[in-house]
Amino acid sequence: MKTYKVGVIGGDGIGPEVAVEAVKVLRKAQDGFGLEFVHYPFGADHYLKTQELVPDKAFEEIKTLDAVLLGALGDPRLPVGVLERGILFRLRFGLDLYVNLRPIKLYTEKLCPIKGKRPQDIDMVVCRENTEDAYSGEARFENKGTPQEVAIQEARYTWKGCERIIRYAFELARKRPRKKVTLVDKANAIRAHDIWRRAYAAVARDYPDVTQDFAYVDATCMWMVKNPEGFDVLVTSNMFGDIITDLGAMVQGGMGIAAGGNINPGKVSVFEPIHGSAPKYKGLKKVSPLAAILAAGLLLEHLGEKKAGDRIEDAVKKVLESEALPSIDASSGVPTDKVGDMVVAALQ
Ligand code: IPM
Ligand code: MG
Repeated sequence: MKTYKVGVIGGDGIGPEVAVEAVKVLRKAQDGFGLEFVHYPFGADHYLKTQELVPDKAFEEIKTLDAVLLGALGDPRLPVGVLERGILFRLRFGLDLYVNLRPIKLYTEKLCPIKGKRPQDIDMVVCRENTEDAYSGEARFENKGTPQEVAIQEARYTWKGCERIIRYAFELARKRPRKKVTLVDKANAIRAHDIWRRAYAAVARDYPDVTQDFAYVDATCMWMVKNPEGFDVLVTSNMFGDIITDLGAMVQGGMGIAAGGNINPGKVSVFEPIHGSAPKYKGLKKVSPLAAILAAGLLLEHLGEKKAGDRIEDAVKKVLESEALPSIDASSGVPTDKVGDMVVAALQ
């Protein structure tokens, strides 16, 4: 029997409590394969105790795993960005996880804040480039602290970076019923985005069966609310992908349900709920673990265990449709671990 090694980084705030539920569901979903979990303490507490973010030795070990499940990072005791850059970006850039795959799927009508939209209207996937853009540029400050200060951070796009994420999006679209890829950019204002247009055109030639589509990022925000049914697969730069997937999370029902994967196909990849660490809810068992659980489902799919991944998604859908879970926000009245138990029960 094949056994996969899965790293678990609970992280900060509510991260550990949602990660525990995801692991609980993963254990139950094992069917014809095994999972071995390796727990890592990385996050704010560990950093404050040891000054370590991800030590090199652990990073080398992570490279030998099959996948990693990440809870959430972020802690008000530390300056903004320390954990994000030191842990999250270390993994994203260091493991070259060039795909940030974020499905936006409405599982049940009652979750949708848009009047009259049904599950068949909201079923799209954002392929967010995950290694470039302003995210990877060096920041430069000239005349810092003076009225003449200038702050510069370049948005950098390489042909290879654009090409590989666009190709991933086309491959994905080919497997979906509607077979459409929308390129989301701002080529009308940002001249450098021309590279996205050209890379898209070059890749699209290999996929005559896939419908081509273009939308500026501002219009994309409008259409995601007005006509979400028009979108199938979206491909976009790192920063635009960051922004439109928060909007997407709202359209599908909230941060408690939005999951994603940081992927390098065939290599160790990192799966996470897209929500933050929500420090004010830490330890209260009030938040939804469903985003982390859906991330675990994506993790299994990445391992090649799509059937087991689909079973997790179906179980989540069943729980959402039941009356037992009135909402997925912190006021649902159903504790985090009970929601996990409900998913486990629905998996039978
Ligand atoms: C996300 C987050 C991160 C990002 C933050 C925490 C740096 O917002 O994963 O979407 O901007 O990528
Ligand atoms: Mg974000």
